Amino acid sequence: MAKILAIESSCDETAVAITDNGKLLANVVATQIAVHEKFGGVMPEIASRLHTENIGACLQQALDESGLKFEDMDAFAVTRGPGLIGCLHVGLQAAKTLAMLYQKPLIPVHHLAGHIYANEYVGTMQFPLLCVVVSGGNTEFVIMKDHMDFDIVGETKDDAVGECYDKVARVLGLPYPGGLPIDQHAKNGKPVIHLPVPEAGGGKYDVSYSGLKTAVINYVNNRKQKGETVDVDDMACSFQTVAIGMILDKAMRAAKDYNVKQVILAGGVSANSYLRAKMKEQLEGTGIDLIIPPLWCTTDNAAMIAKVAERLYEKGFFAPLDLGVDPNWKIDAWDDYSTR
Ligand code: KG4
Repeated sequence: MAKILAIESSCDETAVAITDNGKLLANVVATQIAVHEKFGGVMPEIASRLHTENIGACLQQALDESGLKFEDMDAFAVTRGPGLIGCLHVGLQAAKTLAMLYQKPLIPVHHLAGHIYANEYVGTMQFPLLCVVVSGGNTEFVIMKDHMDFDIVGETKDDAVGECYDKVARVLGLPYPGGLPIDQHAKNGKPVIHLPVPEAGGGKYDVSYSGLKTAVINYVNNRKQKGETVDVDDMACSFQTVAIGMILDKAMRAAKDYNVKQVILAGGVSANSYLRAKMKEQLEGTGIDLIIPPLWCTTDNAAMIAKVAERLYEKGFFAPLDLGVDPNWKIDAWDDYSTR
């Protein structure tokens, strides 16, 4: 293995990690949540600017924590997509500059592959496995028959589940990002408000969130118009039961149909306490193993990017220095560096 410096800047976290022979030496994350909070969501232009401001300090802190220098690295890795285009550019330009200056390979990493491989910090993958990738920007069910072999068998037809949590939180007057506050309020509520379980159509394992989001918004607005209040705890619980219920239902179906040995959770929404508990409960007695990532690797970080990069370094999978970002990069095309 090698010494790898990895950069992540696809959304609202500027992150730099350094690994040496698989050991995590530095894991720096500068989050912009406090800035975006007042807008109720990530403002792309502000996010890019903040990455530009933060990247230098994050790189320096990672070097300090690891006790290494740029010239000690064997490769520079970076999230190339998916994500916000301006944000991705900041990380890619930094990684390309370092690769060029220190004459070391550049390793572009798919963001969701990073979320999946974050689990390697706590467990060993057993194939075939099902990855339940649930984040602010993505909702995908991915079957892996081997390392770096991703087959998307189901996905959202519209909004991502995390995005839906954030919008519902906003309409309920809860802070951004909305996942954790809804999760907490749900614990005090009951699933007594009827919300439709959306039918995604399309594939057997697809999901849909825009209808659920609209149903919550309409319910809250109708109540307001009548001068009535909404019980936030009950709404959080009712919403969460349907939102996570869809994930559990599709995941269990895919796990059985593909005869998987393991299920792994990935992405920011995998921090959800109801999803974690219910997934564990439903897999009990099935013989299917479950890896749940520790909370520190559910949100965006560069340690997960380094994990994938180690594997690609071993394969000698490097990119040319004229590489561009790909905001819509699909995980099953992670080795395709052409820009569409
Ligand atoms: O993976 P992530 O950090 O960003 C993306 O790459 O998209 O995920 C952030 C998302 C946000 O939408 C946030 O509301 C959600 O993860 N989230 C949660 C919880 N904690 C964070 N959603 C549900 N329950 C949680 N406990």
